[in-house]
Amino acid sequence: MSQRVEAKAPTIDVARAREETPGCANVIHFNNAGASLMPRPVLDTVLDHLRLESSIGAYEAAERAAPALERVYDSIAALLGARRDEIAVVENSTRAWDMAFYGLRFKPGDRILTSAAEYVSNYISFLQVARRTGAVIDVVPSEPSGQVSVEALERAIDSRAKLISLTYVPTNGGLVNPARAVGAVARRANVPYILDACQAVGQFPVDVAEIGCDILAATGRKFLRGPRAVGFLYVKREFLENIEPPFLDVHAATWVARDRYEMRHDARRFENYESNAATKLGLGKAVDYAMGWGLEVIRDRVRGLAASLRERLAGMPGVVVRDIGAEKCAIVTFTAEGRDPEAVKSALAGKRINVTVTEASMTRLDMEARGLTSMVRASVHYYNTEEEIDRFCGAL
Ligand SMILES: Cc1ncc(COP(=O)(O)O)c(C=O)c1O
Repeated sequence: MSQRVEAKAPTIDVARAREETPGCANVIHFNNAGASLMPRPVLDTVLDHLRLESSIGAYEAAERAAPALERVYDSIAALLGARRDEIAVVENSTRAWDMAFYGLRFKPGDRILTSAAEYVSNYISFLQVARRTGAVIDVVPSEPSGQVSVEALERAIDSRAKLISLTYVPTNGGLVNPARAVGAVARRANVPYILDACQAVGQFPVDVAEIGCDILAATGRKFLRGPRAVGFLYVKREFLENIEPPFLDVHAATWVARDRYEMRHDARRFENYESNAATKLGLGKAVDYAMGWGLEVIRDRVRGLAASLRERLAGMPGVVVRDIGAEKCAIVTFTAEGRDPEAVKSALAGKRINVTVTEASMTRLDMEARGLTSMVRASVHYYNTEEEIDRFCGAL
């Protein structure tokens, strides 16, 4: 008699994940959208390279690590479904985004289409470029759920629309914007599309071909669990020649004659010569480590934990869960009646529980529309547990 074997959905081995995360012994870390706890393999990669630098010299260490440094591009490309020559590794997500955005050219009347949850630094850049060039910023309305309205975006497209800019997962909440549907609009209208995926990468699969973006920026320290001060930029190969980096150096270009330089032909034209090899290697290891668990498996686990946290918070008197969006992620935001979010954060810190506070100025359009000044932000990762959620709610 043949036996039917039920295929078991892969899950996270939480015990192993925690064992490999030294910080789990010290804190309940619900600030993964700020910076996750690094797993030991990432930490070791960074420290090993720093040790090598101190023992043989930093340039010499970089030479020895050259093959590993090259593999970082393969790792990031694999994570995003991109090609290695479409990837630049830079200091952070903002600088990655800036290097592309400030390389685009705008004329008076050109329209930048964005959404209500756009990240502060991106919006400041829009304001600066609008002031300099006469381009205009158009904020596409949101749906009642809080996500950007794809229909409204479609209607907003005209011949003056020169850029669509979207924040995939905003800094201030659980919302997941419909990046793929926005990409379909961008592709139909042939309007360049820049995606801030800073808080998306590492917590669910992000595939640039499926999304249809031309440019994507992300960081290492958040859900990817990499070190701080390292991030990356993806620029689609076919789009590369449309962007001239706002500044060039000896790494981005070659001084070929007294009056002439030649730019690199790959995305590394957005990098600069001096970079931190240790954190770059750490980023590559963090990407490999995340892919080792599997991004779908990570997504399912973090969404389950976040949903459970939301449900528990919603049942607490005086607590209001503030997350919006039809699709929600690992980030949970809330306010507690009569309690200043900063006071909640420090009271929790006293119990070795890490959360953060998100202020109106970080996502001004959305926060003002909802009449919010600040909220507590608790963001979980796959190494967190239901038991930690219990302790968190008890402490709250
Ligand atoms: C949506 C979003 N974009 C960009 C950034 C900036 O990332 P980085 O500090 O790596 O530049 C953040 C940081 O919180 C963010 O939440």
